[in-house]
Amino acid sequence: MEQFINSRENPEEYSIIPGSTGWRSPSNIAIIKYWGKHGNQLPRNPSLSFTLTSAYTETRIQYKPIADNISPAFSFRFEGVENPAFSSRIQKYLSHLEPYFPFLGKVDLAISSGNSFPHSSGIASSASAMSALAFCLCSMEAAFTGKEDSGPDFLRKASFIARLGSGSACRSVYPGIALWGRQDQVHGSSDLFALPMGHILHPVFGDFRDTILLVSSGQKKVSSSAGHSLMDNNPYATIRYQNAGKRLSRLIDVIEAGDLNEFGNIAEAEALELHALMMASSPPFILMLPDTLAIIHALHKFRADTGYPVYFTLDAGPNIHLLYPARLVSEVNRWLEAEIAPLIEGRIEDAIGKGPVKISSEFASH
Ligand code: PMV
Repeated sequence: MEQFINSRENPEEYSIIPGSTGWRSPSNIAIIKYWGKHGNQLPRNPSLSFTLTSAYTETRIQYKPIADNISPAFSFRFEGVENPAFSSRIQKYLSHLEPYFPFLGKVDLAISSGNSFPHSSGIASSASAMSALAFCLCSMEAAFTGKEDSGPDFLRKASFIARLGSGSACRSVYPGIALWGRQDQVHGSSDLFALPMGHILHPVFGDFRDTILLVSSGQKKVSSSAGHSLMDNNPYATIRYQNAGKRLSRLIDVIEAGDLNEFGNIAEAEALELHALMMASSPPFILMLPDTLAIIHALHKFRADTGYPVYFTLDAGPNIHLLYPARLVSEVNRWLEAEIAPLIEGRIEDAIGKGPVKISSEFASH
């Protein structure tokens, strides 16, 4: 972890000048799920995700030097308005980051953030939000130390810092596909940060779509941090962590081989196992809704009737992520309009994406 601790003893190495930065960072959808953690945001099992495109957060920070203060000084606006719940999460996050960014005690930050998707749509925003913020902070560090805010070391630190905000956020740092967590077969894999895995992506996955079917846009009844901690006493925890490792190993081979059918089998088994774990927690909880199951059954029938490689995965919620190659967009749309539209509140069209980008640091006027 020392590699990420930057000159704590030598804060004079920083030259803090006023400035601004901005990053757009996408959400990601896990195929092998992270569920269960320990220590300081360390995963109980490795996970692998597709980085998305349309569901993203944009964050901008204007910063200026101030005299030493005890806790990080900042203001925060979400989509143009103050948001006390997000502010207190950011407050906690920034104070944990001081060992990695000693300059945080010497700057005042005006942070402004917004999502491309409606906040209450039931789409998890922590991966995009925390990775966008992590990129901004890493860019500030680069500006203060005269380094580039690009390249493998910069991305690795961004992933490490994003992880401390929300585990899954560390995977949003890379284009295409990312792996987080120790996995013997992947050299350099670590519980501390994610690795880019684009090199294993067979072309059949290169244009993969993720159509998010919004079964319910209500707030989640169980937060993911509460869900992670319920794994501590889950009777199936040990077997789960072994399964995840084995499945990931198989998935890597399948993604390299371009085996769509086996990819789908793994993705669906993994989604159902995630929800089975929730149902086996103490207390148990069910995040799927009747229409989630209705859509899964309808999808299985659609697949049996047509042979099209269209699969689902689930996050910690009732919404369905439909995964399929871009060549099937019209067929899938027709089926959705004919059979699924009455069961959902709406849908978000997303696709595998290129990862975070630097944006203009001008504050948008709301
Ligand atoms: O990053 P967190 O703490 O919100 O956890 C994410 C958990 C899942 O979305 C269910 C799975 C995953 O790996 O993204």
